[in-house]
Amino acid sequence: MDPIKVGIIGFGRSGCNIHADAIARMPELFEVCAICDLLPERRTHEAFPHAKPYADHRELLADPAVELVVVAPPNCYHASFAVEALNAGKHVLCEKPFGFTTADVDAMIAASKRANRILQPFQQRRYEEDFRKVLEICRSGRLGAIDFIRISWVGFSRRWDWQTSRRFGGGQLYNNMPHLVDHALELFGERNPAVWCTINNALSSGDAEDEVHLILHAPGAPTVEVEMAATAAYPLDRWYVCGTAGGLRGNATHLEWKWVDWSKMPERPLDLHPTAGRSYNSETLEWHSDSWDAEQQSDAGAGAAPAPKPVMALYSGLYRAIRQGAPQEITPEQVRRRVAVLEQCYRMNQIPFPKGTR
Ligand SMILES: NC(=O)c1ccc[n+]([C@@H]2O[C@H](COP(=O)([O-])OP(=O)(O)OC[C@H]3O[C@@H](n4cnc5c(N)ncnc54)[C@H](O)[C@@H]3O)[C@@H](O)[C@H]2O)c1
Repeated sequence: MDPIKVGIIGFGRSGCNIHADAIARMPELFEVCAICDLLPERRTHEAFPHAKPYADHRELLADPAVELVVVAPPNCYHASFAVEALNAGKHVLCEKPFGFTTADVDAMIAASKRANRILQPFQQRRYEEDFRKVLEICRSGRLGAIDFIRISWVGFSRRWDWQTSRRFGGGQLYNNMPHLVDHALELFGERNPAVWCTINNALSSGDAEDEVHLILHAPGAPTVEVEMAATAAYPLDRWYVCGTAGGLRGNATHLEWKWVDWSKMPERPLDLHPTAGRSYNSETLEWHSDSWDAEQQSDAGAGAAPAPKPVMALYSGLYRAIRQGAPQEITPEQVRRRVAVLEQCYRMNQIPFPKGTR
């Protein structure tokens, strides 16, 4: 094997605890050879004692040993750093948000084509077991035609770091919504959705939103509602699906679904006569049910680093794309659609984009 040499820009919760942590678990595929952070004490990692420390990302980009650059500083730097890295001839793995606007994404895609280098959006939650199971059940037809899905990512907590500040592109629209919109659009399908979104700053100390309500709608597609709240003392299930033959509910570790086999039930043609004995229509349904439990907890929950398994799945795919020319499993063009939805949410709520946004 020929491990891909990685340079990481921004060595915080993501750069260190998500990316370096996953890379350290797959030494045959990747190796961290350079680390850049503004804070000197953050330029080292015990698993990679030979990684070169850099204070400025441009120095890391000039390092010929670096093949793949992980862009993991605060949100406002993502698009410009990704373009600089591609222009320097590096492959790029860019943290979410994958830019703030479709213009950001287009500039990144153009740079990747010019440089003939891989540009990989980091959407590791696409590989989470619970999401994949929900997608499988919805696509299987078991629940009939899916007409409503609610994705709920809620809790009761305060936050006071840069992720609550617009100056850095913080706020839930570009913090956790990129994950949820990715899930939502996979479940929604290929149609272009009408988008409705409200935001609120309930408890966070910065000026950015910590609550988001988003609805995606199109004829012939399920209505998908995504909810992020900081004031949910009684959290709802993460997943809630309604279909014409049944439904599903659950969370990251347990899902359950039940359905009716309408073909075994009598036809119910429309009957416009007043009902016998002034009764309401009623019938006994025969329910079938099934459930799923995660082999291991896929998400330790709010405030914890995401589980490594989905991260490693994304890195494995990236290795195949870079070293073996395999097609990318999650493409920039796909994620551009997600960014388009988030950009609409931003514009709808008249939020000024951070400086540097195209
Ligand atoms: N995919 C995920 O599940 C996930 C999880 C957490 C964070 N993230 C993303 O990772 C990015 C970083 O978030 P975080 O939580 O790690 O923040 P963090 O504050 O923990 O880390 C950011 C690091 O970047 C450094 N930094 C800031 N400006 C820099 C610059 N110009 N050059 C080099 N280093 C710089 C900071 O010193 C800090 O160490 C964000 O875009 C966030 O959205 C993604």
